[in-house]
Amino acid sequence: MANDQEKEAAARASLQFVKDGQVVGLGTGSTAAHFIKLLGEQVKNGLRIRGIPTSVRSRELAESLGIPLTTLDECQEIAVTVDGADEVDPQLRLIKGGGGAMLREKVVASATKLLVIVADASKQVPVLGKFPLPVEVIPFAQALVAKRIAALGADVSVRTGADGKPYVTDEKNHILDCRFGQIPDADGLARQLSEMPGVVEHGLFIGMASVVLFARGSEIVELRR
Ligand code: 5RP
Repeated sequence: MANDQEKEAAARASLQFVKDGQVVGLGTGSTAAHFIKLLGEQVKNGLRIRGIPTSVRSRELAESLGIPLTTLDECQEIAVTVDGADEVDPQLRLIKGGGGAMLREKVVASATKLLVIVADASKQVPVLGKFPLPVEVIPFAQALVAKRIAALGADVSVRTGADGKPYVTDEKNHILDCRFGQIPDADGLARQLSEMPGVVEHGLFIGMASVVLFARGSEIVELRR
């Protein structure tokens, strides 16, 4: 699949940012999984790093590859994190959370010096919002928060798993997928969502990404903030 080859190429290009001795944040999703696998190869070849995974899935993958891990309890400064994204705009604002891990991803990103986003070219957009914005909510407040976000102009649905029941995040919350169509004021919306009681986190990552690596065919396009 060409798209998957682009994801792998972007992940490969991000390896240049990882240096010996560093603590490295390990993102979540199919592109981040490529990065973790490539990092595993480097570790086998002698690279000494410690990883902090952003999800149970990424932790299990890293463990299976023999990547040494640490935690935020032990270490609160992360040199570099490599993660994917669902959308990236020209100011390097992101929508994340398609894989349901944006809460831990944002916590890890906030402790990271250099956040490197890896993506195939389809993720580059002029304006955020075509991809449904994930909002993580405590189950108790789900209906109330859904109503309030709908009042902001979104079509809101509760994310479900294969069993038809609400998808449960690693932190035991639910996710509302919010279809805005276009988000002309991402900064304002991020503030509104953060102030809503019951919202644990949302998928707008603003002012966090330092570098974005897009793979377009065999070409890598690097954008910096
Ligand atoms: C998970 C994420 C992912 O990074 C995002 O959904 C992109 O996923 P993929 O690399 O599979 O396209 O934010 O919460």
